[in-house]
Amino acid sequence: MADVVLQTRGGSGGIVIDDDWPGYSLELFSYPAHYAGDLQCVVVPHGVIMDRTERLARDIMDDLGEHDIVVLCVLKGGYQFCADLVDKIKALSCSSDRTIPMRVHFIRLKSYLNDQSTEDLHILGAEDLSFLAGKNVLIVEGIIGTGKTLKALLKHVEVFQPKMIRVAGLLVKRVPRNTSSLPDYVGFEIPNRFVVGYALDYNEYFRDLNHICVISDSGKMKYKI
Ligand code: HPA
Ligand code: MG
Repeated sequence: MADVVLQTRGGSGGIVIDDDWPGYSLELFSYPAHYAGDLQCVVVPHGVIMDRTERLARDIMDDLGEHDIVVLCVLKGGYQFCADLVDKIKALSCSSDRTIPMRVHFIRLKSYLNDQSTEDLHILGAEDLSFLAGKNVLIVEGIIGTGKTLKALLKHVEVFQPKMIRVAGLLVKRVPRNTSSLPDYVGFEIPNRFVVGYALDYNEYFRDLNHICVISDSGKMKYKI
């Protein structure tokens, strides 16, 4: 079992993947041949991501149904999760009597080089977020590591005085942290390892991989800058 307990901003901590989980063998799934040898194992298969995302969409709908929301997609790592989450919310809006009118906006953050977080966080496309004033905002992130990035982003967004801010994160890493900036909606709580796929990158590689995988040592060497 994990020693570090997640303190989310209210929701469930997501599906817990333990530190001693070896992952699935790559032989059990299909993945692009150009990544042969670059990966160690599959941590979360694509189908499981989709099923979990469907449930998160329902939770969001239960909490926010009837409110207009502005979805703030955090690029680049959050694009696939955001697209699939928005799709699932749209499907629910069509099949039930509750709907969420959504607008989608994109901002881009960059703070990683190789597999290390750098101190300087760049927020691009966030110059004028004044249209968020009085709105319900759903920030959608692919992965939360230390939580420092999310904390900085929340601080940035709060300046524009939205009515409410909720955060959905597909993955939250189990790391010791002294920050309370964790998502309200969490897909999976994962070990503190560098993962790629489903839009998460290592120096821009692996975004074109459907499953969430652990990169191999030779993969790290091959794509190192
Ligand atoms: N993979 C890709 N991007 C990331 C990660 C990770 O494990 N952690 C923070 N950004
Ligand atoms: Mg990245």
